[in-house]
Amino acid sequence: MTATFKEGDLVLLYQDPRRHWITRIREGRFHTHRGYLDLKDLIGLEPGRLVKTSLGQPIAAFEPRISDLVDSFDRPTQILYPKDVGYALYRLGLKSGDTVVEVGTGSGALTAAIARSVAPNGRVYTYENRREFLKSAQKNLEKTDVSQLVTFRNVDPSEGFLEREVDAAVIDLGDPWKMVQPAWEALAGGGVLAGFTPTMNQLEKLAEALRMNGFLALEAVELLVREFKTETGKVRPESRMVGHTAYVTIARKVVPKE
Ligand SMILES: C[S@@+](CC[C@H](N)C(=O)[O-])C[C@H]1O[C@@H](n2cnc3c(N)ncnc32)[C@H](O)[C@@H]1O
Repeated sequence: MTATFKEGDLVLLYQDPRRHWITRIREGRFHTHRGYLDLKDLIGLEPGRLVKTSLGQPIAAFEPRISDLVDSFDRPTQILYPKDVGYALYRLGLKSGDTVVEVGTGSGALTAAIARSVAPNGRVYTYENRREFLKSAQKNLEKTDVSQLVTFRNVDPSEGFLEREVDAAVIDLGDPWKMVQPAWEALAGGGVLAGFTPTMNQLEKLAEALRMNGFLALEAVELLVREFKTETGKVRPESRMVGHTAYVTIARKVVPKE
């Protein structure tokens, strides 16, 4: 956590669940429909402080989490849901200093979350064959404080990743089974792979490819999340929920392959 805000830091200005914004602390005013803030007044404050706008309205100044930053990303592609990202990061066991290969980059939502997990000493090599998506992901990552940890490659790695001895490989595209052999080559022994598949047919083909290509400890899960209303006296699940996103598959490289 940042001890106190300084010039150039990202800040999440939070009024209520529907009104919150991310900006950088620099010279100038930040206008809301309930008054403005002089951004420089935030310098030296501890994150989480409530400050007042020019109209006396309270506003909280938070240090943005990576999920706050991803919420502000442009989305030219489908992005993964927090429940699936969070579970995969936990099961991948990422830590500072780890090296990760990822395909496809898409909008960079997962890339950002991985980069945050391996910061400040790790590296993410992310592969995307569509230049326009890669550019968009690069712009998105620039909104975070981990873009310097990401190498973008406008390459289809089905013939092989350029990296070797990486700690983890992450696959989120329509035909993930094509990336299993390249991922095995790139991973260090015991390295962990995570794959995301929206359909069971894809999951089946991915699992088959993993079993045939030197992976063990295979697990596949579906995560269901129910949001709750939390008003006193009316605490209950929301009426609607997201019914389906993706199946998450985790496996570990073994050597030798046979
Ligand atoms: C569902 S999106 C990934 C979304 C990403 N995980 C996120 O959270 O923003 C899948 C991406 O994989 C890319 N892709 C598909 N096949 C590919 C290949 N063979 N090589 C590299 N990228 C590929 C697509 O262009 C697309 O951008």
